Amino acid sequence: MKNQPIGVFDSGVGGLTAISNIIRELPNERLIYFGDTARTPYGSKAKSTITSFANQIVDFLVSNHVKMIVIACNTITSICLEQLKQQYPNIPIVGIIEPAARKVAKVCTPHNRIGIIGTKVTIQAKTYIHSILHFNPNLKLFDMACPIFVPLIEEGIVENSIMELSVKYYLDDFISENKIDTLVLGCTHYPLIRPTIEKLYPHLNIIDPSFEIMQSVKETLSQKNLLAEQPKYENIFYASDLSENFMNMIASIFGKTNVRTDFKNFDLDGLESKENK
Ligand code: DGL
Repeated sequence: MKNQPIGVFDSGVGGLTAISNIIRELPNERLIYFGDTARTPYGSKAKSTITSFANQIVDFLVSNHVKMIVIACNTITSICLEQLKQQYPNIPIVGIIEPAARKVAKVCTPHNRIGIIGTKVTIQAKTYIHSILHFNPNLKLFDMACPIFVPLIEEGIVENSIMELSVKYYLDDFISENKIDTLVLGCTHYPLIRPTIEKLYPHLNIIDPSFEIMQSVKETLSQKNLLAEQPKYENIFYASDLSENFMNMIASIFGKTNVRTDFKNFDLDGLESKENK
């Protein structure tokens, strides 16, 4: 069991930001990543659609004998985490929002003015707000959906004038009117545009949940005595559309490491959700 892989999934390339932290901190762990690049973005879709896609992917990961599932997507975490935990009681499932909320509650004070950005679904679900206030009810929170970021990032547009304009479009007024000093990147795609955000708003303290989820994975594996004992074989990256951009993102994130990888295009027809069986 200990040496079985960890399953990680996201709607596309965003979850790779969490993967890079897991690979660095837990080098013995073998990962199976699924990016649903053919159906991204999820963040503006109906909850029922997202739930059905998430069920399909979790079934696929479970059929690959993963020892744990990491939802490296705020959108899916915000609406499906509890349901998935009930459906799969025998497998630890970690979402990305609670570990980030704990961190915000730990490092921020009521003097801070905290902005949370994410997809429409994540922001409308208010999961960040509820979760952060659960840990510290005195914090001042503001949130903003930024729906154009994910399609641009999936296109590989991360550091140029189009992205700068989009960031300014959503964040200029949001940050100045609310006097935001701390920004939570509530979408796993956003660490890929962190340099652009930092360039435009150098005063911000940025909190990246993709780092916090790695801590939560480490703790959960350790508590359940599931940390891998043997050096791993290669990581496997599945994408429902093994696009050039997906491959480029993997090369840019892991290019300088010695991570061995295998890439597989996944035929969506092969994903059959429990609901349909
Ligand atoms: N990376 C996903 C998240 O963290 C993005 C969503 C999307 O597909 O819109 O919310």
